[in-house]
Amino acid sequence: MLRRDTNHKKTDIPVAEPLYPKSSKRRGNKAPVIPIVAAVLTLLAVYLLFFNGKGDKLAPTPTSQAIKDNVAVDSSTISTNSHTVTINGEAEELPDSIEYYDLNDYVGFEDGKSKEDIILLCIPLRNAEKVLPLMFRNMMNMTYSHSLVDIAFLVSDCSEDDRTFEALVEYTSALQSGTLLQLLDSQQEEMKRSGIRGTSDLYLSYMDKAYSENVRNAYSPPYHDEYEKPFRSIQIFRKDFGQIIGQGFSDRHDVKVQGIRRKLMGRARNWLLSNALKPYHSWVYWRDADIETSPGSIIEDLMKFKDYDVIVPNVWRPLPTFLGNEQPYDLNSWMESEKGLELARNLGEDDVIVEGYQEYPTWRVHLAYIRQENGDKNEIVDLDGVGGVSILARAKVFRQGVHFPAFTFMNHAETEAFGKLARKMGFRVGGLPHYTVWHIYEPSEDDLQDISRMERKKRRLRQTSGS
Ligand SMILES: *[C@@H]1O[C@H](CO)[C@@H](O)[C@H](O)[C@H]1NC(C)=O
Repeated sequence: MLRRDTNHKKTDIPVAEPLYPKSSKRRGNKAPVIPIVAAVLTLLAVYLLFFNGKGDKLAPTPTSQAIKDNVAVDSSTISTNSHTVTINGEAEELPDSIEYYDLNDYVGFEDGKSKEDIILLCIPLRNAEKVLPLMFRNMMNMTYSHSLVDIAFLVSDCSEDDRTFEALVEYTSALQSGTLLQLLDSQQEEMKRSGIRGTSDLYLSYMDKAYSENVRNAYSPPYHDEYEKPFRSIQIFRKDFGQIIGQGFSDRHDVKVQGIRRKLMGRARNWLLSNALKPYHSWVYWRDADIETSPGSIIEDLMKFKDYDVIVPNVWRPLPTFLGNEQPYDLNSWMESEKGLELARNLGEDDVIVEGYQEYPTWRVHLAYIRQENGDKNEIVDLDGVGGVSILARAKVFRQGVHFPAFTFMNHAETEAFGKLARKMGFRVGGLPHYTVWHIYEPSEDDLQDISRMERKKRRLRQTSGS
């Protein structure tokens, strides 16, 4: 909601009030059984931690992990109540201005949904007005309990005529009051009626029929129970980082500017994360806005790999049939190679290797290229670099200091350097080769020219056959 009062002092801004309270058993609940249960469980937890485990290790053994899991399940309603603390077996209520968190409770569990792990969903936005309806439908489609998801948007460096921020305010307000589906549906109807389909939408008739059908279904009812539910909280941040290059396709992919661009994006991600991450977040899910389809259960699906701290799916995109129907999209998820290391050794300290360009022949194995259409969705492989389209990471990875380098780190920047840094700090990074998220297809200038050539030919044919 926008504030009417524009004269407020900075210090007037309240701590974000989530729609769903952190605990169902908050202050004011006078049932005496809760402090007692709390005390017993805390003693049990202390006992188990001291006598059985060594706290939060990078690679917990199955037994200590299992024990910690059990403790966390039972104490979940207590541990998220930040105004209660247990001292010498006595539960004490804290004043409102004092909060207490036992960070061992927020390490991220494989079955986080049933353990009520709170997720921080981070979405960076730039000139994203056009894809917002699609992005919101993707968010609503997530089956992870919306009451356990805090969303943080960062709007940065939009062009003058772009309305990402305004649209975001409108959509998030509707989402939190349960009217977004209605709003999106009516906007879609409106567009259909007025027939605004730019010539750039011509490419749709060149897409694979089965894919288009799949997309239509993905955006149609019936929807699941969680679909229209508001999220736990939403925060919108705005900050510009300076824009050195345009957002046109060829601009964005010129190898010379990639390094600088990636560092700016890393900086943006770090600002977003450090403003939004709270002690009670167990997982951080990074998501780009321009995804067309993705399984609704993606958070649950990515979090179930016990030994991994950072997990990414495969990212492909559809193509017009004359270009081969589909294509590996995100080449930033890869396994390091001998050739890649050798290349790095011969580069300057500040040089950034950019994957997928002939200037940098790394011969790495890319997650995108080892996909099998009907492969096992639960197969996971170790990675070194990761792409940023969709990253689930345990929050402890960030708490420990891993971030998105906005400088050259091991000849990489941003998400690829994030993967390398996470490994360097002892975390395990994995990718799912056969679990696919579909990025939208944005026709390049060349593709559009091809399409208009084909359209002209069609018209000519129609004319000659008509005369
Ligand atoms: C919504 O979730 C379903 C079930 O996982 C999936 O088939 C569909 O593609 C999703 N929709 C979108 C827009 O991603």
